[in-house]
Formats: sequence, structure tokens, C-alpha cells
Amino acid sequence: MSNTDRLIIFDTTLRDGEQSPGASMTRDEKVRIAKALERLRVDVIEAGFPIASPGDFEAVQAVAQAIKDSTVCGLARAVDKDIDRAGEALRGANSARIHTFIATSPIHMKMKLRLQPDQVVEQAVAAVKRARRYTDNVEFSPEDAGRSETDFLCRVLEAVIEAGAGTVNIPDTVGYSIPEQFGALIRQLRERVPNSDKAVFSVHCHNDLGLAVANSLTAVSNGARQVECTINGLGERAGNASLEEVVMAVRTRKDVFSCDTGLDTTQIVNCSRLVSGITGFPVQPNKAIVGANAFAHESGIHQDGVLKSRETYEIMRAQDVGWTQNRMVLGKHSGRNAFRARLLEIGIEFESEEELNAAFSRFKDLADKKHEIFDDDLQALVTDAGLALENERAKLMSLRVCSETGETPRADVVLSIDGKEEAGVALGGGPVDAAFKAIESIVSSGTELQLYSVSNITSGTDAQGEVTVRLEKGGRIVNGQGADTDIVIASAKAYLNAYNKMVQPALREHPQIGDV
Ligand code: KIV
Ligand code: ZN
Repeated sequence: MSNTDRLIIFDTTLRDGEQSPGASMTRDEKVRIAKALERLRVDVIEAGFPIASPGDFEAVQAVAQAIKDSTVCGLARAVDKDIDRAGEALRGANSARIHTFIATSPIHMKMKLRLQPDQVVEQAVAAVKRARRYTDNVEFSPEDAGRSETDFLCRVLEAVIEAGAGTVNIPDTVGYSIPEQFGALIRQLRERVPNSDKAVFSVHCHNDLGLAVANSLTAVSNGARQVECTINGLGERAGNASLEEVVMAVRTRKDVFSCDTGLDTTQIVNCSRLVSGITGFPVQPNKAIVGANAFAHESGIHQDGVLKSRETYEIMRAQDVGWTQNRMVLGKHSGRNAFRARLLEIGIEFESEEELNAAFSRFKDLADKKHEIFDDDLQALVTDAGLALENERAKLMSLRVCSETGETPRADVVLSIDGKEEAGVALGGGPVDAAFKAIESIVSSGTELQLYSVSNITSGTDAQGEVTVRLEKGGRIVNGQGADTDIVIASAKAYLNAYNKMVQPALREHPQIGDV
């Protein structure tokens, strides 16, 4: 493959993905996801927006120090203080990029920035030049390009490329574009900007009309050679283009696309699960590539066809994106080495012996309750082990629930609050309701439950249930997750996971760009 055939994958799960309400991540969670993205071999990891808050700054700094093989990027508005902060956060990175942006659409320039077009060009050029003081690798985005005038975009892009931007990214910030039109825009920009050959053209599409992947792919067909995307399509509002869909479309349809990525696609499912576990955003079963049903054939005709020849109904191999056979692999008597070996086979590595030991002890607990342990159980167990936050305020010590026909369910819970045990009792409409009320009788969080969902990790009545809980307080939203063979316990774990996030200081109040 020649250089021009390489499609650069720029992952923004840790920045734009984090702008989904409730998806905020701690510094350590960001580092875990960044390492998984590095194993996936993404080219660029956008780790955050350093000026947004001290927490954001530290997270970008920690990712910059932990990652060796991917480029680490920090976002900055086109103003000196943002760029200096991003430069500082990225110091020490093996390979650093600063991504600076300013809006170029008439509505954003007039209503939001209150700047004249000439001032916008001037600010964009100054920002790129300042960013070049910190790194040779500078990306510029004309925000809301999808609604900007093409002539003005050409003018801005020519000026920023001249000033030293090696990547120019065309964002469809509000997800307004339609594939044919967006593809034509990319083609025109490449044709009309005189120095377009000096920069890589990138796209960044939002999914408000469900077209983010389609728009990104049309842009690729028209010469874009970087796509900005997120794991599971996470992101502001309806999300960004989903990494797994873009990558697998390009790889599966080599006959259509004259480029390919350098990704190790067998890491996709692991990344998807990790991001879902950490953010508490479940993946819908019919989601392409990473949904539980993405490779499941229900109808008899399909099953028969696939058994005779896989290609009759399958265009990709499940194992190529990291789905394993979900074999029954381990049991109660399996040892630590077998446990570690199977995890390695499914692409999970531990950073330290302590992490392995913690996961192994959870495995033993699970094996006591569940006869057969499947690959999916292992994945959930490892994600669940990583859900524990540093300095957790509340821990579940014990839970007893009584639920009987004709009686009101009752829950007795014991929590450790800042290391001190406290007990609570409550009645509820059902066992889960009673458990949540018993927890609240101790923590008095003042939160409102916005979402409660349960899904099973494997099949069978002894399967683990995976619960997501979303809590809201004063406009701040957090998601929590928990897994257990007992769904009431899984629910209590998820509730406490969300509560523990809520009581930690927010990285920023509203992780939206305009609020900085
Ligand atoms: O959607 C958008 O315009 C952005 C920019 C910062 C690239 O996220
Ligand atoms: Zn965006």
C-alpha cells in the first residue's frame, strides 16, 4: 500500500465521546481506554480538551505519558491560552498533535463569535502558528464547516495550510450534511484550495440525521484520508461516526475504497466493551459490528446457508472484529495460569500482577455461583473489575432482599461509607426499588434516577445480568454499571457505581466546548 492509500484513524472517544451526557471519564479510565485504542493501533488518540478544566489537563497529560505507539492529540480553541495549555499537557508525548479550531459558518461567526470573517481568518492563522511552536503536527478545523460557505472555507484552509497545518479537518458539527453533498464539498475543497496537496484532508461527522458514517465514507471516496470517529459511535448529542463501522466498511469493501487502515480489527469488540463498561452506555443488540446480534442468524434459511457456506449470508468474519466463539472455557477448578492464558487469547492483557490477582479473585467468586464461565463472562468480569473508582466513597458490604407473593419487597443493605459501616432498610415496589431506597436511606444523594436497564451477558438462567443506572443531579448526569449473577446485586452495584461517580468532583461541569 502506498502512503496515499493509508486511511488515518483519529479516535475522539476520549474527547467528543466524553461530551455525551453522562459519559465523563476519570483520568485513569481515560488511560485504560487509550491503551486499548493503542492496542487497536489507531493512528491518533484525541485525549481531551486541556483548557477545559484541571481534570481534563491531567487526563491528557496522563494519556500523553502512557501512550507510545499512537499520536496523542489535545484540542484547543484558536486562542493563545488554549494552545499553550494543550502544548503543556502534551509535553513528553512520544508523538503529539495540537488540534485547533474556530467556527466558520455565518451563523456561528455572527451569533457565537461576533467576529467578522477577516478576523476569523486572522485568528485561525495565528493559532496554527502558535501551535507550531509546540509541535510540527498541527490540525486545524473550521467548526460547522458543513454549514459554511465553500468560498470562505477555501480561503481559510489555504491560509492555515500556508501557516503550517498538516491536517485540515472538515467537521459536520451539527450533523446537517447529506452524503452526496458532503462528498462534493470535500472534492471541491481539494480541487480549489491551491495548496491542498500539502495537507491531509480529514472529516469529522456527527450523527444527528443518522448519516455520520455515510458522510465519512463518501468523503473518503472523494479523497479524505483521515476520519475522526469514536468507539460505539459515542459523542455529543446523537454521537460521532462509529469507528468500527467506518473501519470495517473500508476493509470489507476494498473493491470500492482505494485505501485501508492500519488497525488490528480483532481488538474492536474488546474496545467496544471497555468503552461501554466505563461510560455506562450499553451497546444496542442490533448495532453493526459490535452489537450482540451482529453475527447471529435467527432464521432457518440463513442458518442453513451459513452452515453450508459462510459467505452466503456473512460478509465479514466475526473473529476478524474480535468476537470469540464464546466457548465454555473455564470452571471452578481452573487455575490462575489458565485464566491468564484464556484472557490473553481473547486479547486482554493486564498492566500489573495486582490487576491480574484482583480479576482472578473475582473469577473465583463468580465460578462459585456459575458453573460454566464463558468468554463473555470474562470480558464483563475484567470490565467490572476496572469500574472501581479511586477513593470510592460507598462500597456494598451486604444486601438481603425479601420478595414474596402478596408481600411488599424489603431490602436490608450494609454499605461502607468512607470506611465506616452503615445499615439501611427500605420497602419498595419491587426488590430493585427496595434495594435502591435502602441505599438512599444511607447516602441521601438527592439524585434522580433517569434510566435503569438490565441485559444478560450470556444465555441461561444462571447468566450474569449487566445493569446500567443513570443518575441526575443539578443538571449533571452520570452512568453506572454493575454485573452479577444476581440482578438485584448487579443493580445495587450499578447504583453505587453511579453514586460514587456523582460524589467525585466533576472534571468539568458541562463538557461542552462553548462552556470553557
Ligand atoms: O464537531 C465539531 O465541530 C468538533 C470540532 C472541535 C472538530 O468537535
Ligand atoms: Zn464534534
